[in-house]
Amino acid sequence: MNALDFTGKRVLVTGGSGDIGRALCAAFAARGARVAFTWFSNHDGCAATEAAIAEVGGPAPLAIRANLRSKGAAGEIAAEVLEAFGGLDVLFSNAASGVLRPALELTAKHWAWTMDINAKAFLELTTALAPSMPEGGRIMALSSAGATRAIENYAMVGASKAALEALVRHFAQALGPRGITVNALCPGVVDTGALQHFPNREQLLEVAAYRTPNGRIATPADVADVAVLLASPLARMIQGQTIAVDGGYSILA
Ligand SMILES: NC(=O)c1ccc[n+]([C@@H]2O[C@H](COP(=O)([O-])OP(=O)(O)OC[C@H]3O[C@@H](n4cnc5c(N)ncnc54)[C@H](OP(=O)(O)O)[C@@H]3O)[C@@H](O)[C@H]2O)c1
Repeated sequence: MNALDFTGKRVLVTGGSGDIGRALCAAFAARGARVAFTWFSNHDGCAATEAAIAEVGGPAPLAIRANLRSKGAAGEIAAEVLEAFGGLDVLFSNAASGVLRPALELTAKHWAWTMDINAKAFLELTTALAPSMPEGGRIMALSSAGATRAIENYAMVGASKAALEALVRHFAQALGPRGITVNALCPGVVDTGALQHFPNREQLLEVAAYRTPNGRIATPADVADVAVLLASPLARMIQGQTIAVDGGYSILA
């Protein structure tokens, strides 16, 4: 048996129109999985993901348009996936948004926006979908270094990722007895559309590459490869962890 063969498995990726989401969709489709993904505003990104899945020979995906900020969106996504697939084996809470502002300028409105999309959606998707997951099911959330480190203008997103990582540990405790693992992936700096929102993008990329022991920053495909490993039976005893996928960036002082 090939532990990295996902033929017949059902995978949901939120934020599939983004760069890391697209790599996740393609990686699982290439290994035979049926993929559903969500997108919100990026029509071209959605089409690019459908094309990426077709390119690796995967079955046509279920593309769901949803605004994770909207009340009830997670429940609607879950219902659509369960109706189409009859259950779910792997869930990725990957979509993210957020307000990039100095910590002392943050308001309750910024809090609600960022927490709803980055943390509450994970809570609602997991509670809606975990009951129909079989033994061997996998749940993963995309975190970031801001959950544990102070990064300029990143306080709000960092707080939402810290909430996400706490939920990961508590869901792991709740779902472990059913043979379902729940973990977070923590990429370092990855050159995706998300970085366009950082005024210091060039500097970020340069410093990250220079400081990474592996000699380069991680790509979306690097993140997806680790996701495939964690979703496989080989990773059955990795539970409730946040796994850095950053070429060693975060080990440096
Ligand atoms: N890139 C990095 O350096 C990095 C580092 C650490 C962690 N991460 C994490 O990795 C994940 C993917 O990041 P990425 O770099 O691939 O980001 P990205 O390219 O900007 O993609 C973000 C995704 O989130 C979706 N999204 C945003 N707001 C939404 C909303 N209100 N409702 C539904 N979907 C929404 C976007 O959909 P539309 O575009 O269709 O609206 C898009 O698919 C995120 O959780 C991010 O925090 C990234």
